[in-house]
Amino acid sequence: KEHITMNTKRNTLSVKKIRQMIGGEAGLDWVADQLTAVAQMYQIYESAQHEISTKLENLDAEFEVNYNHNPIHHIDGRMKDPQSLIGKIQKKGLDRSVDSIKNNIFDIAGLRVITNYIDDIYTVEKLLSQQDDIEVIRRKDYIKNPKESGYRSLHLVVKVPVFKANDVEKGPVEIQIRTIGMDMWASLEHELRYKTDVNRAEEFAANLVDNANALFDIEQNFQEIHHQL
Ligand code: GTP
Ligand code: MG
Repeated sequence: KEHITMNTKRNTLSVKKIRQMIGGEAGLDWVADQLTAVAQMYQIYESAQHEISTKLENLDAEFEVNYNHNPIHHIDGRMKDPQSLIGKIQKKGLDRSVDSIKNNIFDIAGLRVITNYIDDIYTVEKLLSQQDDIEVIRRKDYIKNPKESGYRSLHLVVKVPVFKANDVEKGPVEIQIRTIGMDMWASLEHELRYKTDVNRAEEFAANLVDNANALFDIEQNFQEIHHQL
């Protein structure tokens, strides 16, 4: 079986490097302090992302052993780059402090879980959220209630403890769980939306909704065949 492992390299910025970059500059201590706090936050959040990713891989492996079925097709992970983080802070009119980021932005660490069938989405959700150390802090079911665009996906934000040298800190991770078909639609729609000028995009909106519905029908058919086998 091909591996489903999340494929990301860590991008750590050390406190020492920050001090070397900014150190000594008169009056810039506060910048170094802020950068340090952001680097520490990114490290915890990225570790939380790895914790969740491992949990998901383990669940998939157990299913393979016991039920001869893999709910998960593959997992993608990304950390929000600092530029989009700043964009989001501005868009939401948030205070530019690490505290306000921690209290308001939950998609700095992101995982996308692509499942084989529609039912697998809710299986993955149930098995993950029932674990003792997992706290679900947000849930949006865009499958039962698709977005106007036609977008379907189950969005969760979960918190998981990350063990540090002398402490434990919980980090939030946004998880988008969706089928191969929903993922295909979201990728193409995203590309079309960003490459097309906004006025022309309107022309195709209804068409894209039709395509999303057609893909959903097809995946329900596959689900039915899978049930019968
Ligand atoms: P944000 O501030 O954007 O996070 O808004 P929100 O918290 O209301 O999040 P929402 O539940 O709308 O989900 C945001 C994420 O879902 C986006 O970053 C996309 O990855 C995905 N998403 C939501 N709607 C669409 C859509 O219509 N098309 C595509 N391709 N992706 C979408
Ligand atoms: Mg978001």
